[in-house]
Amino acid sequence: TDTIKKDLPLSGIKVMVTAGPTYEPIDPVRFIGNHSSGKMGFALADEMARLGAEVTLISGPTAEKSLQHVNRINVTTAAEMLEACKSNFQDSAITVMSAAVADYTPVHVASQKIKKATEEFSIELKKTIDILATLGQTKTKDQILVGFALETNNEEEHAKAKLVKKNLDLIILNSLNDPGAGFQKDTNKITIFNQCLEKTVYTVKSKTEVAKDICTEILKLRQA
Ligand code: CTP
Ligand code: CA
Repeated sequence: TDTIKKDLPLSGIKVMVTAGPTYEPIDPVRFIGNHSSGKMGFALADEMARLGAEVTLISGPTAEKSLQHVNRINVTTAAEMLEACKSNFQDSAITVMSAAVADYTPVHVASQKIKKATEEFSIELKKTIDILATLGQTKTKDQILVGFALETNNEEEHAKAKLVKKNLDLIILNSLNDPGAGFQKDTNKITIFNQCLEKTVYTVKSKTEVAKDICTEILKLRQA
């Protein structure tokens, strides 16, 4: 009930979370996607709601079930996710972008199924808009913006560069070199950098526990 909610750390606070992959259509039967399961984003949305927040979860295509007390908006493409994020960002005190957004999308989408013909075949792609960087440009001092970085090499350098370039408050580094981290798993191993580029290294945990750790860091920023 409302009386219980009032005492929670994020009571009345609007939070936006993105989750899952995006699918970029090639023709009516094919798309470019990635291995994101959406589990990390759904765990984050669930934990934010547990802390009392009014959560909007913008989800790409996933097998995850909808969560109680979470307003879910389903999208398919990076372009749709951008629009949904832009519509919700201004109202959100906290935004966490855990979606694995496609970096490239086909220049043309064939209206009919592409038939096999030539031995070699290529699809022309164009860059998608970086949603996180776009939000970072309009962020006010009262808003907290958190991104993820998925890296396979020079992980810490790349993550810190993304934190600065996209104007983030925190970045959560996922290294695919860490056993226990990555796609389709129920566990994750993260390192968090703050704006002072101080790092906190966490052990392998369930995605539920990882979500709690991320929320704890965000709550610290709100108290600072
Ligand atoms: N992201 C986004 N929009 C995109 C691409 C990425 O909002 N078009 C966000 C992701 O949600 C994530 C962060 O940017 O929070 C980092 O994603 P990542 O793929 O690690 O970094 P990129 O900036 O896309 O760089 P690269 O893939 O070249 O490493
Ligand atoms: Ca990317």
